[in-house]
Amino acid sequence: MPQEPIEPMPAFPPGFLWGASASAFQTEGAADAEGKGPSGWDAFAAQGRIKDGSDAARGTGFHERYREDVALLAGLGADAFRFSVSWPRVVPAGSGPVNARGLDFYDRLVDELCAHGITPAPTLYHWDTPLPLEEAGGWLRRDTALRFADYASAVAQRLADRVPLWMTLNEPAEVTLLGYALGEHAPGKQLLFDALPAAHHQLLAHGLAVSALRAAGARSVGVAVSHSPVRAAGDSEEDRFAAELYDTLTNRLFADPLLTGAYPDENIAALMPGPVADDLGVIARPLDFYGVNYYHPMLVGAPADDAPGGFAGVGMPAGLPFGLRDIDCEEHTDFGWPVVPDGLRELLVSLGGRYGDRLPPVIITENGCSYDGLDDGRRIAFLDAHLRSLHRAMGEGADVRGYFTWSLTDNIEWVEGASRRFGLVHIDYETLRRTPKASYHWYRDMIAAQKRGR
Ligand code: NOJ
Repeated sequence: MPQEPIEPMPAFPPGFLWGASASAFQTEGAADAEGKGPSGWDAFAAQGRIKDGSDAARGTGFHERYREDVALLAGLGADAFRFSVSWPRVVPAGSGPVNARGLDFYDRLVDELCAHGITPAPTLYHWDTPLPLEEAGGWLRRDTALRFADYASAVAQRLADRVPLWMTLNEPAEVTLLGYALGEHAPGKQLLFDALPAAHHQLLAHGLAVSALRAAGARSVGVAVSHSPVRAAGDSEEDRFAAELYDTLTNRLFADPLLTGAYPDENIAALMPGPVADDLGVIARPLDFYGVNYYHPMLVGAPADDAPGGFAGVGMPAGLPFGLRDIDCEEHTDFGWPVVPDGLRELLVSLGGRYGDRLPPVIITENGCSYDGLDDGRRIAFLDAHLRSLHRAMGEGADVRGYFTWSLTDNIEWVEGASRRFGLVHIDYETLRRTPKASYHWYRDMIAAQKRGR
Protein backbone atom coordinates (compact mmCIF):
# COMPACT_ATOMS: atom_id res chain seq x y z
CA MET A 1 0.00 0.00 0.00
CA PRO A 2 1.38 3.47 -0.81
CA GLN A 3 2.51 5.64 2.10
CA GLU A 4 0.92 8.79 0.70
CA PRO A 5 -2.30 9.27 -1.25
CA ILE A 6 -1.59 9.74 -4.92
CA GLU A 7 -4.98 10.53 -6.39
CA PRO A 8 -7.44 13.09 -4.98
CA MET A 9 -10.24 11.42 -3.02
CA PRO A 10 -13.34 10.93 -5.18
CA ALA A 11 -16.35 13.04 -4.19
CA PHE A 12 -18.83 11.64 -1.68
CA PRO A 13 -22.45 12.78 -2.03
CA PRO A 14 -23.62 16.12 -0.62
CA GLY A 15 -24.74 15.76 2.98
CA PHE A 16 -22.42 12.79 3.64
CA LEU A 17 -21.59 12.94 7.35
CA TRP A 18 -17.92 13.09 8.32
CA GLY A 19 -17.09 12.28 11.92
CA ALA A 20 -14.95 10.64 14.55
CA SER A 21 -15.87 8.20 17.32
CA ALA A 22 -14.94 7.59 20.95
CA SER A 23 -16.43 5.89 24.02
CA ALA A 24 -16.93 6.71 27.68
CA PHE A 25 -14.82 4.04 29.42
CA GLN A 26 -11.97 4.52 26.97
CA THR A 27 -11.73 8.29 27.42
CA GLU A 28 -13.68 9.86 30.25
CA GLY A 29 -11.68 8.91 33.34
CA ALA A 30 -13.37 10.52 36.39
CA ALA A 31 -14.38 6.99 37.29
CA ASP A 32 -16.08 7.99 40.54
CA ALA A 33 -16.67 11.71 40.04
CA GLU A 34 -20.01 13.44 40.53
CA GLY A 35 -21.86 10.39 41.77
CA LYS A 36 -20.79 7.95 39.05
CA GLY A 37 -21.05 4.29 40.07
CA PRO A 38 -18.52 1.60 39.12
CA SER A 39 -18.90 -0.38 35.91
CA GLY A 40 -17.98 -3.98 35.23
CA TRP A 41 -15.00 -2.65 33.28
CA ASP A 42 -13.85 -0.49 36.23
CA ALA A 43 -13.87 -3.64 38.37
CA PHE A 44 -12.10 -5.70 35.69
CA ALA A 45 -9.38 -3.03 35.36
CA ALA A 46 -9.01 -2.85 39.15
CA GLN A 47 -8.33 -6.62 39.13
CA GLY A 48 -5.27 -5.94 36.99
CA ARG A 49 -6.77 -7.29 33.77
CA ILE A 50 -5.47 -4.40 31.62
CA LYS A 51 -2.29 -5.87 30.18
CA ASP A 52 -0.05 -2.80 30.23
CA GLY A 53 -1.26 -1.66 33.66
CA SER A 54 -2.43 1.68 32.29
CA ASP A 55 -4.75 3.75 34.42
CA ALA A 56 -8.21 3.27 32.98
CA ALA A 57 -9.69 5.25 35.85
CA ARG A 58 -8.04 8.34 34.36
CA GLY A 59 -8.63 7.53 30.69
CA THR A 60 -7.69 10.45 28.48
CA GLY A 61 -9.23 12.87 30.97
CA PHE A 62 -12.12 13.54 28.56
CA HIS A 63 -14.54 14.28 31.42
CA GLU A 64 -12.41 17.29 32.36
CA ARG A 65 -11.03 18.18 28.96
CA TYR A 66 -13.99 17.64 26.66
CA ARG A 67 -13.86 21.26 25.52
CA GLU A 68 -10.34 20.70 24.15
CA ASP A 69 -11.55 17.66 22.25
CA VAL A 70 -14.58 19.48 20.87
CA ALA A 71 -12.21 22.22 19.68
CA LEU A 72 -10.14 19.52 17.96
CA LEU A 73 -13.29 18.19 16.26
CA ALA A 74 -14.15 21.70 15.16
CA GLY A 75 -10.62 22.09 13.81
CA LEU A 76 -11.14 18.92 11.77
CA GLY A 77 -14.31 20.34 10.26
CA ALA A 78 -16.16 17.24 11.51
CA ASP A 79 -19.93 17.20 11.03
CA ALA A 80 -20.59 14.83 13.92
CA PHE A 81 -19.02 13.25 17.00
CA ARG A 82 -19.90 9.74 18.12
CA PHE A 83 -19.35 9.36 21.87
CA SER A 84 -20.97 7.07 24.41
CA VAL A 85 -22.98 7.82 27.50
CA SER A 86 -21.77 5.95 30.55
CA TRP A 87 -24.70 4.01 32.01
CA PRO A 88 -23.20 3.96 35.55
CA ARG A 89 -22.61 7.73 35.39
CA VAL A 90 -26.34 8.21 34.76
CA VAL A 91 -27.78 5.34 36.83
CA PRO A 92 -25.02 4.53 39.34
CA ALA A 93 -26.65 1.38 40.72
CA GLY A 94 -27.91 0.22 37.32
CA SER A 95 -31.49 0.53 38.54
CA GLY A 96 -33.22 3.07 40.71
CA PRO A 97 -32.38 6.76 40.97
CA VAL A 98 -30.95 8.74 38.09
CA ASN A 99 -27.84 10.74 38.95
CA ALA A 100 -28.65 14.25 37.75
CA ARG A 101 -25.00 15.33 37.94
CA GLY A 102 -24.08 12.46 35.62
CA LEU A 103 -26.61 13.65 33.05
CA ASP A 104 -25.38 17.23 33.51
CA PHE A 105 -22.03 16.20 32.04
CA TYR A 106 -23.64 14.99 28.80
CA ASP A 107 -25.79 18.12 28.76
CA ARG A 108 -22.63 20.25 28.83
CA LEU A 109 -20.95 18.09 26.19
CA VAL A 110 -23.97 18.25 23.87
CA ASP A 111 -24.20 22.03 24.29
CA GLU A 112 -20.50 22.41 23.55
CA LEU A 113 -20.82 20.31 20.39
CA CYS A 114 -23.90 22.22 19.23
CA ALA A 115 -22.16 25.53 19.88
CA HIS A 116 -19.49 24.40 17.39
CA GLY A 117 -22.03 23.19 14.84
CA ILE A 118 -21.13 19.52 15.47
CA THR A 119 -23.93 16.95 15.59
CA PRO A 120 -23.85 14.93 18.82
CA ALA A 121 -24.22 11.20 18.06
CA PRO A 122 -24.31 9.27 21.33
CA THR A 123 -24.23 5.52 21.82
CA LEU A 124 -26.07 4.43 24.95
CA TYR A 125 -24.04 1.29 25.66
CA HIS A 126 -20.38 0.95 24.84
CA TRP A 127 -19.67 -1.95 27.23
CA ASP A 128 -19.69 -0.26 30.65
CA THR A 129 -22.47 -2.14 32.47
CA PRO A 130 -23.17 -0.81 35.99
CA LEU A 131 -21.34 -3.14 38.39
CA PRO A 132 -24.37 -4.13 40.52
CA LEU A 133 -26.13 -5.37 37.36
CA GLU A 134 -22.98 -7.14 36.17
CA GLU A 135 -22.58 -8.85 39.53
CA ALA A 136 -26.17 -10.02 39.36
CA GLY A 137 -25.45 -11.75 36.03
CA GLY A 138 -25.24 -8.85 33.56
CA TRP A 139 -26.54 -9.63 30.08
CA LEU A 140 -27.30 -13.22 31.08
CA ARG A 141 -30.36 -11.80 32.83
CA ARG A 142 -33.48 -10.44 31.18
CA ASP A 143 -33.80 -7.80 33.89
CA THR A 144 -30.66 -6.05 32.55
CA ALA A 145 -32.51 -5.35 29.29
CA LEU A 146 -35.44 -3.83 31.17
CA ARG A 147 -33.12 -1.64 33.25
CA PHE A 148 -31.38 -0.52 30.07
CA ALA A 149 -34.70 0.68 28.67
CA ASP A 150 -35.29 2.78 31.81
CA TYR A 151 -31.82 4.30 31.47
CA ALA A 152 -32.32 4.96 27.74
CA SER A 153 -35.52 6.78 28.50
CA ALA A 154 -33.85 9.00 31.14
CA VAL A 155 -31.03 9.97 28.77
CA ALA A 156 -33.35 10.59 25.84
CA GLN A 157 -35.73 12.74 27.87
CA ARG A 158 -32.82 14.96 28.85
CA LEU A 159 -31.01 15.19 25.50
CA ALA A 160 -33.36 14.40 22.61
CA ASP A 161 -34.22 18.07 22.09
CA ARG A 162 -30.63 18.66 20.90
CA VAL A 163 -29.44 15.20 19.82
CA PRO A 164 -30.70 14.07 16.41
CA LEU A 165 -28.68 10.86 15.95
CA TRP A 166 -28.68 7.97 18.43
CA MET A 167 -27.16 4.52 18.69
CA THR A 168 -28.40 1.99 21.24
CA LEU A 169 -25.61 -0.60 21.54
CA ASN A 170 -22.03 -0.88 20.36
CA GLU A 171 -20.80 -4.26 19.08
CA PRO A 172 -23.02 -6.71 20.95
CA ALA A 173 -21.06 -9.53 19.30
CA GLU A 174 -17.81 -8.55 21.02
CA VAL A 175 -19.54 -8.26 24.39
CA THR A 176 -21.02 -11.74 23.94
CA LEU A 177 -17.90 -13.38 22.53
CA LEU A 178 -15.08 -11.66 24.39
CA GLY A 179 -16.93 -10.89 27.63
CA TYR A 180 -19.19 -13.89 28.20
CA ALA A 181 -17.93 -16.72 25.95
CA LEU A 182 -14.13 -16.37 26.13
CA GLY A 183 -13.55 -14.22 29.21
CA GLU A 184 -10.99 -11.91 27.62
CA HIS A 185 -13.08 -8.84 28.39
CA ALA A 186 -15.30 -7.90 31.35
CA PRO A 187 -17.06 -9.67 32.94
CA GLY A 188 -14.48 -12.37 32.21
CA LYS A 189 -16.92 -15.27 31.88
CA GLN A 190 -15.90 -18.34 29.87
CA LEU A 191 -19.28 -19.80 29.04
CA LEU A 192 -18.64 -20.66 25.38
CA PHE A 193 -22.01 -21.48 23.79
CA ASP A 194 -23.81 -20.88 27.09
CA ALA A 195 -23.07 -17.19 26.48
CA LEU A 196 -25.83 -16.99 23.84
CA PRO A 197 -28.42 -15.49 26.23
CA ALA A 198 -26.12 -12.46 26.53
CA ALA A 199 -26.69 -11.86 22.82
CA HIS A 200 -30.46 -12.19 23.14
CA HIS A 201 -30.73 -9.85 26.11
CA GLN A 202 -28.59 -7.19 24.45
CA LEU A 203 -30.77 -7.41 21.36
CA LEU A 204 -33.88 -7.12 23.49
CA ALA A 205 -32.34 -4.13 25.30
CA HIS A 206 -31.74 -2.55 21.91
CA GLY A 207 -35.36 -3.01 20.81
CA LEU A 208 -36.74 -1.64 24.07
CA ALA A 209 -34.37 1.32 23.87
CA VAL A 210 -35.47 2.10 20.30
CA SER A 211 -39.01 2.58 21.60
CA ALA A 212 -37.83 4.63 24.60
CA LEU A 213 -35.79 6.89 22.30
CA ARG A 214 -38.65 7.40 19.88
CA ALA A 215 -41.09 8.12 22.74
CA ALA A 216 -38.74 10.91 23.85
CA GLY A 217 -38.65 12.40 20.36
CA ALA A 218 -35.33 11.02 19.02
CA ARG A 219 -35.34 11.60 15.27
CA SER A 220 -32.78 9.14 13.95
CA VAL A 221 -32.14 5.86 15.76
CA GLY A 222 -29.69 3.09 14.91
CA VAL A 223 -27.21 0.63 16.37
CA ALA A 224 -23.47 0.02 15.85
CA VAL A 225 -22.69 -3.57 14.88
CA SER A 226 -19.26 -5.00 14.10
CA HIS A 227 -19.05 -6.82 10.80
CA SER A 228 -16.19 -8.75 9.26
CA PRO A 229 -16.53 -10.45 5.92
CA VAL A 230 -15.72 -14.09 6.60
CA ARG A 231 -13.57 -15.96 4.11
CA ALA A 232 -13.12 -19.73 4.12
CA ALA A 233 -9.49 -20.78 4.61
CA GLY A 234 -9.82 -23.42 1.90
CA ASP A 235 -12.20 -25.17 -0.43
CA SER A 236 -12.80 -28.27 1.62
CA GLU A 237 -16.27 -28.90 2.98
CA GLU A 238 -14.86 -28.66 6.53
CA ASP A 239 -13.37 -25.23 5.90
CA ARG A 240 -16.52 -23.93 4.28
CA PHE A 241 -18.67 -25.29 7.10
CA ALA A 242 -16.42 -23.67 9.71
CA ALA A 243 -16.46 -20.31 7.92
CA GLU A 244 -20.23 -20.38 7.58
CA LEU A 245 -20.65 -21.21 11.25
CA TYR A 246 -18.34 -18.37 12.24
CA ASP A 247 -20.24 -15.97 9.99
CA THR A 248 -23.50 -17.08 11.58
CA LEU A 249 -22.24 -16.65 15.13
CA THR A 250 -20.55 -13.28 14.68
CA ASN A 251 -22.41 -11.50 11.86
CA ARG A 252 -25.83 -13.05 11.32
CA LEU A 253 -26.60 -13.75 14.99
CA PHE A 254 -27.03 -10.00 15.42
CA ALA A 255 -27.91 -8.63 11.99
CA ASP A 256 -30.63 -11.22 11.20
CA PRO A 257 -32.82 -10.53 14.24
CA LEU A 258 -32.25 -6.77 13.98
CA LEU A 259 -33.08 -6.58 10.29
CA THR A 260 -35.36 -9.55 9.63
CA GLY A 261 -36.87 -10.38 13.03
CA ALA A 262 -35.54 -13.97 13.01
CA TYR A 263 -32.48 -15.81 14.26
CA PRO A 264 -30.34 -17.42 11.56
CA ASP A 265 -31.79 -20.84 12.34
CA GLU A 266 -34.17 -22.69 14.62
CA ASN A 267 -31.38 -24.33 16.60
CA ILE A 268 -30.03 -20.95 17.66
CA ALA A 269 -33.51 -19.59 18.42
CA ALA A 270 -34.14 -22.64 20.61
CA LEU A 271 -31.08 -21.81 22.74
CA MET A 272 -32.36 -18.31 23.52
CA PRO A 273 -34.22 -17.60 26.78
CA GLY A 274 -37.68 -16.11 27.31
CA PRO A 275 -40.58 -15.55 24.94
CA VAL A 276 -38.26 -15.46 21.94
CA ALA A 277 -40.92 -14.98 19.24
CA ASP A 278 -42.38 -11.97 21.04
CA ASP A 279 -38.93 -10.57 21.76
CA LEU A 280 -37.99 -10.79 18.08
CA GLY A 281 -40.86 -8.44 17.30
CA VAL A 282 -39.32 -5.91 19.69
CA ILE A 283 -35.76 -6.49 18.47
CA ALA A 284 -36.70 -5.83 14.83
CA ARG A 285 -38.34 -2.44 15.35
CA PRO A 286 -37.52 -0.34 12.29
CA LEU A 287 -34.27 1.63 12.35
CA ASP A 288 -33.36 4.85 10.61
CA PHE A 289 -29.82 3.67 9.96
CA TYR A 290 -27.60 0.65 10.51
CA GLY A 291 -24.16 1.41 11.96
CA VAL A 292 -21.30 -0.77 10.76
CA ASN A 293 -17.93 -1.04 12.51
CA TYR A 294 -15.35 -2.48 10.11
CA TYR A 295 -11.73 -3.33 10.88
CA HIS A 296 -10.72 -6.39 8.83
CA PRO A 297 -12.01 -9.63 7.33
CA MET A 298 -11.68 -12.99 9.07
CA LEU A 299 -10.14 -16.10 7.55
CA VAL A 300 -11.77 -19.15 9.07
CA GLY A 301 -11.20 -22.84 8.57
CA ALA A 302 -11.73 -26.17 10.24
CA PRO A 303 -10.02 -26.47 13.61
CA ALA A 304 -6.46 -27.69 13.11
CA ASP A 305 -3.66 -28.67 15.48
CA ASP A 306 -1.14 -26.48 13.71
CA ALA A 307 -3.51 -23.51 13.78
CA PRO A 308 -5.12 -23.73 17.20
CA GLY A 309 -6.85 -20.44 16.62
CA GLY A 310 -5.98 -17.20 18.17
CA PHE A 311 -6.01 -13.89 16.49
CA ALA A 312 -4.65 -10.42 17.22
CA GLY A 313 -4.14 -11.05 20.89
CA VAL A 314 -7.35 -12.97 21.47
CA GLY A 315 -6.72 -16.61 22.21
CA MET A 316 -9.35 -19.13 21.21
CA PRO A 317 -9.75 -22.19 23.41
CA ALA A 318 -9.26 -25.65 21.94
CA GLY A 319 -12.34 -27.60 21.02
CA LEU A 320 -14.18 -24.93 19.06
CA PRO A 321 -15.70 -26.02 15.75
CA PHE A 322 -13.65 -23.49 13.79
CA GLY A 323 -10.12 -22.13 13.67
CA LEU A 324 -9.01 -18.58 12.87
CA ARG A 325 -6.07 -18.07 10.50
CA ASP A 326 -3.95 -15.01 9.96
CA ILE A 327 -4.59 -13.26 6.67
CA ASP A 328 -1.72 -13.14 4.25
CA CYS A 329 -1.55 -9.49 3.17
CA GLU A 330 1.13 -6.85 2.62
CA GLU A 331 0.39 -4.75 5.63
CA HIS A 332 -0.51 -5.34 9.26
CA THR A 333 -1.14 -2.58 11.80
CA ASP A 334 1.00 -2.23 14.92
CA PHE A 335 -1.74 -4.24 16.66
CA GLY A 336 -1.09 -7.04 14.15
CA TRP A 337 -4.44 -6.63 12.41
CA PRO A 338 -4.42 -7.28 8.66
CA VAL A 339 -5.04 -4.24 6.47
CA VAL A 340 -7.61 -5.22 3.82
CA PRO A 341 -9.38 -2.10 2.53
CA ASP A 342 -11.40 -4.00 -0.07
CA GLY A 343 -12.99 -5.94 2.78
CA LEU A 344 -15.13 -2.87 3.47
CA ARG A 345 -16.53 -2.88 -0.07
CA GLU A 346 -16.96 -6.65 0.06
CA LEU A 347 -18.84 -6.36 3.35
CA LEU A 348 -21.17 -3.57 2.26
CA VAL A 349 -22.03 -5.27 -0.99
CA SER A 350 -22.71 -8.56 0.79
CA LEU A 351 -24.89 -6.89 3.45
CA GLY A 352 -26.94 -5.36 0.64
CA GLY A 353 -27.20 -8.74 -1.07
CA ARG A 354 -28.18 -10.54 2.12
CA TYR A 355 -30.71 -8.07 3.54
CA GLY A 356 -31.92 -6.15 0.47
CA ASP A 357 -34.63 -3.62 1.28
CA ARG A 358 -34.54 -4.57 4.92
CA LEU A 359 -31.17 -2.89 5.33
CA PRO A 360 -31.67 0.77 6.18
CA PRO A 361 -29.11 3.35 5.07
CA VAL A 362 -25.71 2.49 6.53
CA ILE A 363 -23.36 4.70 8.51
CA ILE A 364 -19.81 3.50 9.06
CA THR A 365 -19.70 4.05 12.81
CA GLU A 366 -16.08 2.87 13.25
CA ASN A 367 -13.09 2.24 11.05
CA GLY A 368 -9.48 2.85 11.96
CA CYS A 369 -6.15 1.36 12.95
CA SER A 370 -3.56 1.26 15.69
CA TYR A 371 -0.16 2.71 14.76
CA ASP A 372 2.41 4.41 16.94
CA GLY A 373 3.98 7.78 16.30
CA LEU A 374 2.95 11.30 15.41
CA ASP A 375 4.09 11.05 11.83
CA ASP A 376 1.54 8.39 11.05
CA GLY A 377 1.68 8.03 7.28
CA ARG A 378 0.54 4.44 7.61
CA ARG A 379 -2.73 5.59 9.24
CA ILE A 380 -3.20 8.07 6.40
CA ALA A 381 -2.68 5.28 3.89
CA PHE A 382 -5.14 3.08 5.82
CA LEU A 383 -7.87 5.73 5.95
CA ASP A 384 -7.30 6.80 2.36
CA ALA A 385 -7.59 3.24 1.08
CA HIS A 386 -10.67 2.45 3.17
CA LEU A 387 -12.47 5.59 2.03
CA ARG A 388 -11.77 4.70 -1.60
CA SER A 389 -13.12 1.20 -0.92
CA LEU A 390 -16.22 2.74 0.67
CA HIS A 391 -16.68 4.98 -2.34
CA ARG A 392 -16.46 1.97 -4.65
CA ALA A 393 -19.09 0.16 -2.57
CA MET A 394 -21.39 3.17 -2.94
CA GLY A 395 -20.77 3.07 -6.67
CA GLU A 396 -21.91 -0.55 -6.57
CA GLY A 397 -25.16 0.41 -4.87
CA ALA A 398 -24.43 0.57 -1.12
CA ASP A 399 -26.47 3.35 0.49
CA VAL A 400 -23.97 4.80 2.97
CA ARG A 401 -24.64 8.16 4.59
CA GLY A 402 -21.63 8.81 6.78
CA TYR A 403 -18.21 7.74 8.04
CA PHE A 404 -16.85 7.97 11.58
CA THR A 405 -13.22 7.10 12.07
CA TRP A 406 -12.05 5.35 15.23
CA SER A 407 -10.84 7.37 16.97
CA LEU A 408 -10.57 11.08 17.60
CA THR A 409 -7.82 10.62 20.20
CA ASP A 410 -5.72 7.73 21.42
CA ASN A 411 -7.55 6.03 24.26
CA ILE A 412 -7.66 2.99 26.51
CA GLU A 413 -7.90 0.06 24.12
CA TRP A 414 -9.71 -2.22 26.59
CA VAL A 415 -7.39 -5.01 27.84
CA GLU A 416 -4.55 -3.64 25.71
CA GLY A 417 -4.63 -0.39 27.66
CA ALA A 418 -2.94 2.78 26.45
CA SER A 419 -0.37 0.93 24.36
CA ARG A 420 -2.59 0.59 21.26
CA ARG A 421 -3.02 3.98 19.66
CA PHE A 422 -6.01 4.42 17.32
CA GLY A 423 -6.20 8.24 17.50
CA LEU A 424 -5.88 11.05 14.99
CA VAL A 425 -4.67 12.94 18.05
CA HIS A 426 -1.85 11.69 20.28
CA ILE A 427 -2.37 11.56 24.04
CA ASP A 428 0.61 11.92 26.37
CA TYR A 429 -0.67 9.80 29.24
CA GLU A 430 1.61 11.57 31.77
CA THR A 431 0.31 15.08 31.06
CA LEU A 432 -2.86 14.26 29.06
CA ARG A 433 -1.60 16.73 26.50
CA ARG A 434 -3.24 16.36 23.08
CA THR A 435 -1.12 16.62 19.92
CA PRO A 436 -2.67 16.25 16.46
CA LYS A 437 -0.89 13.65 14.33
CA ALA A 438 -0.22 13.88 10.60
CA SER A 439 -3.43 11.89 10.04
CA TYR A 440 -5.46 14.60 11.82
CA HIS A 441 -4.24 17.16 9.29
CA TRP A 442 -4.86 14.75 6.43
CA TYR A 443 -8.45 14.02 7.56
CA ARG A 444 -9.09 17.76 8.05
CA ASP A 445 -7.86 18.54 4.53
CA MET A 446 -9.82 15.66 3.02
CA ILE A 447 -13.07 16.82 4.71
CA ALA A 448 -12.43 20.41 3.57
CA ALA A 449 -11.84 19.26 0.00
CA GLN A 450 -15.07 17.24 0.07
CA LYS A 451 -16.99 20.29 1.28
CA ARG A 452 -15.41 22.60 -1.31
CA GLY A 453 -16.40 20.13 -3.99
CA ARG A 454 -20.05 20.22 -3.03
C1 NOJ B 1 -14.38 -1.59 18.43
C2 NOJ B 1 -14.81 -0.99 19.72
O1 NOJ B 1 -16.11 -0.49 19.59
C3 NOJ B 1 -13.87 0.09 20.21
O2 NOJ B 1 -14.22 0.38 21.53
C4 NOJ B 1 -12.45 -0.37 20.06
O3 NOJ B 1 -11.54 0.52 20.64
C5 NOJ B 1 -12.14 -0.56 18.59
N1 NOJ B 1 -13.01 -1.61 18.10
C6 NOJ B 1 -10.72 -0.97 18.29
O4 NOJ B 1 -10.49 -2.22 18.81
